[in-house]
Amino acid sequence: MTTTPAETSTIEDLRPAIEAAGQAHVLSFVGELSSAEVEAFQAQLVSIDWASLPGVIERYRGAATAETTGDLEPAVVCCPCGTPGDVAVDASEARAAGLELIRSGKVAALTVAGGQGTRLGFDGPKGTLPIGPASCRTLFEVFADQLSAASAWAGRPIPWLLMTSPQNHGQTLRFFEERHWLGLDREQVRFFTQGVMPSFCPESGRLLLSNKGTLATNPDGHGGVVRALVGSGELEWLERRGVEHLSYFQVDNPLVPPVDPVFLGAHIGAGGAPSSGQFSSKMVAKADASEKVGVFARRNGQTSVVEYSDLPADVARSTDEHGRLRFEAGSIAIHAASVAFLRSIDEAGESALPFHRAFKKVPHVDLASGERIEPSEPNAVKLERFVFDAIPVADEPMVMRVAREREFAPTKNATGVDSVESAKKLQHDRAAAWLTERGQACPDGCTLELSGEAAWADCAELEYTPRTTPEAGSSAVL
Ligand code: UTP
Repeated sequence: MTTTPAETSTIEDLRPAIEAAGQAHVLSFVGELSSAEVEAFQAQLVSIDWASLPGVIERYRGAATAETTGDLEPAVVCCPCGTPGDVAVDASEARAAGLELIRSGKVAALTVAGGQGTRLGFDGPKGTLPIGPASCRTLFEVFADQLSAASAWAGRPIPWLLMTSPQNHGQTLRFFEERHWLGLDREQVRFFTQGVMPSFCPESGRLLLSNKGTLATNPDGHGGVVRALVGSGELEWLERRGVEHLSYFQVDNPLVPPVDPVFLGAHIGAGGAPSSGQFSSKMVAKADASEKVGVFARRNGQTSVVEYSDLPADVARSTDEHGRLRFEAGSIAIHAASVAFLRSIDEAGESALPFHRAFKKVPHVDLASGERIEPSEPNAVKLERFVFDAIPVADEPMVMRVAREREFAPTKNATGVDSVESAKKLQHDRAAAWLTERGQACPDGCTLELSGEAAWADCAELEYTPRTTPEAGSSAVL
């Protein structure tokens, strides 16, 4: 929830609005705070939209009614690789159109990096996690190197927007500063911070304090990107610069091409792709019926993402005439969106991007004793927005099939499934396959990784000579 009140508001200026919202208790301990704590609290209180808060709490305090799947049909999927049953897209036409978009400065990359990364448990913003199997490059560096190669090809810096959260903004910025913007132009890299939502007790509707001078809050979800782009002025900056499309990806996938010419071309309808150019998504075939990813489907006639927990098991297991899962179109959270469409989504507000409610354990200060309580059971509602809720709002949203082994290495957990280890292996496998496709064998026991130039050349279909010839037992960045 971000508003634009005068930055100079004091707590006393804000008190009437806070009282009118029925939340006067959050000011219970103000008299005990130091002046620095008061200042920090003021800054937080100013960022809350007190006028709309009561309505939001009322709408989401009750237990969520079970999501009904409605009338579900498989999504229409298009494909540049000739998969039976998909709408065929001409890859070279789409690539040419996408390259032209990039070359003419109409594309910017957008990374959502505001998440808390709780499952990973890494001390620092997720993007600063070393992930390159041969180079130990961090996630941010992997993306920066590809953007650098694509920018060199385009002859202009491709803007890279990064969404941080209030919790990780300072650390993220310092990381880029210390590493000299990862070899990119300083002006090319743009940070903006997502909003937060205050947690509240569902019974009383009251906000919680995480300490005497801080509301308990959480980042407002990757769907907060739309409000944050507008509120920060970044969307306007893009409009002024003539950027028309954003290439959206998550910070935790080192195999994602930050700007993919074929996808971007298909997104604007080139090569016969069924797309209006408002909002497009990539899909991979689910590994099996039980894989925990959302799937693209037509729900009551509209393309949407259905979360895995909402897809009944028998529906998830059903197969089609090709022997494939009917609902195999797994979402990998890679999208392209037009700047104009994002502006319209922001104007539509909650009707386009509603909040999703989670019931969680939130430590808080007891108002009577002033003691901090660590709950053993969920006690509070957290609200988040999901970016894929924009899909059903778009005209003719496109879903394009891509190869999982080329584009998807989720890094969610410290160990096991979707972990740092599995993401490193997937990057090695991808580089080894790249070498094999070029008629070279992968020597025994070596660890490989594609450089930014190689990865960009691969998706732009450019000539590229590897930097080095890998030897058995060595680590090599191609
Ligand atoms: P996840 O849903 O995997 O969440 O985010 P997470 O915070 O990274 O990890 P956990 O669930 O706490 O373990 C998917 C992507 O969306 C971004 C994340 O940074 C990641 O790129 N994200 C998520 C945001 O930018 N803001 C949010 O509020 C939530």
